Amino acid sequence: MTNGTPKRIGILTAGGDSPGLNAAIRGFGKAAIGYHGMELIGFRDGITGLVQNRYEHLDGKALSGILTIGGTILGTSRDKVHRMTVDGEVRDMVPTVVENYEREGLDGLILIGGGGTAKNAMRLHDAGLNVLTLPKTIDNDIWGTDTSFGFATATEIATEAIDRVHSTAHSHHRIILTEVMGHRAGWLTLAAGLAGGADVILIPEIPYTVESVAETIRTRTARGSTFSVVAVAEGARDVDDTADYEAAQLLVKAAKTPEARRAARTHLAHVEDNQREHTFRLARELEAATGLEARVTILGYVQRGGAPCAADRLLATRLGAAAAELVAAGECGYMVAARGEGTEAMPLSEVAGKIKYVPQDHDWVAAARKVGTGLGD
Ligand code: F6P
Repeated sequence: MTNGTPKRIGILTAGGDSPGLNAAIRGFGKAAIGYHGMELIGFRDGITGLVQNRYEHLDGKALSGILTIGGTILGTSRDKVHRMTVDGEVRDMVPTVVENYEREGLDGLILIGGGGTAKNAMRLHDAGLNVLTLPKTIDNDIWGTDTSFGFATATEIATEAIDRVHSTAHSHHRIILTEVMGHRAGWLTLAAGLAGGADVILIPEIPYTVESVAETIRTRTARGSTFSVVAVAEGARDVDDTADYEAAQLLVKAAKTPEARRAARTHLAHVEDNQREHTFRLARELEAATGLEARVTILGYVQRGGAPCAADRLLATRLGAAAAELVAAGECGYMVAARGEGTEAMPLSEVAGKIKYVPQDHDWVAAARKVGTGLGD
C-alpha cells in the first residue's frame, strides 16, 4: 500500500461450509470498508478461485442482508494450494497465487476456514503474502481457539434431533442411534449428546466396546426404560477399529519414500473404507446384544445448512471486526482466535497442522459420567 491509497484486501471462504461464514464476511467487510476505509474483493470458491483469479468487488451493498444467511455467498472448495489437480496433473499453485496477489495489488488476504485452511494460509504466508485466518467449522476442532463459528448452530440442530428421536424411541421401545458429524473429533456429539440427554455418547477420543454400550442399555431396560438414544460421532470407533486406524495412520507418518507413502495411504483408505457404515454395524450388534430393535438416523448435512444461531453471528462478527483491526495495524500471519469474550492473534505457525481433540479429562466428559451417560468404555 502506498500512502493515501486505501488498502486492498482479498477474502475467501474455504473447506466445508458452516453457518456463520456470511456473518464473518460481513463482519470483516463492514469494519474494513466502513471503519478502516479499505477496498475489498471476494475470491470465488475458496482456493480454487484464488488460483484462477476469479473474484468480485465487495461493497456495502454486497455485504448487506447476508448476516442471517447460511452457506457462503462466495462459494467454497476443499483444494490444497500446494497440491492441486490442474489439467490432470498435481501441481504446486503457490507461485500462481503469489502472482495473482501481486497483479491485483493486494495488501492482505483473509482466509475463513478450518484446519486445512490454516495449512494453506501458512504456505501462502511462507511465500510472503500477508494472510490472516478466521476459524470456522461445525467440528470445533481447530487448535488454538476456544471455539469456531458454526459449532453453536450445529450443536442446536443436533440437539434438536436428539430431542426429537426420544419420543419415537420411547413409543417403539427401540434403540435409536443418531450419527452426528465432527470428522475425527467428538465435540459436536458430546455437546449435543449432553444437551439432548442422550443415554450413551460415543466419540472418537473414547473408543467403545459393544458390550459396554449394550450393558448401559440393558441396565436402563432393567430399570424400566425400554428405549435408549445413542449419540454416535461419525468418527467414533470400537476399540479394534480404532487400533487398526491408528496403526494405518502411523504407517503413513513413518513412510520415507514416495512409493512407501503411496502404499501407506492406499492401506489407510482401505481401512477407512472397511469402517464406513460403522453406525449401522453397531445397531445390528446392539440388537443382538440387547434384544431391542435398533434404528439409525444420520444427521448429515442438515447440521451445516441454514441460518446461523445468534451465538455464531456474534462470534463471526466480532472475529471479523478484530481481523480488520489487525489488517489496519499491518499485522499478518495469525489466526484470529476466540478467547473468552475477546479475541487473540494466534501465530499460524502454532496452529497449522494441529487438531483440537476432546481431552479425556475434559469437563464435558466428566459431566457426562457424573450424570450417568454411558461413554462406551
Ligand atoms: O469439517 C466439517 C465437516 O462437515 C465434517 O463434520 C464432515 O466430516 C465433513 O465436513 C464432510 O465433508 P464433505 O463436505 O467434504 O462431505
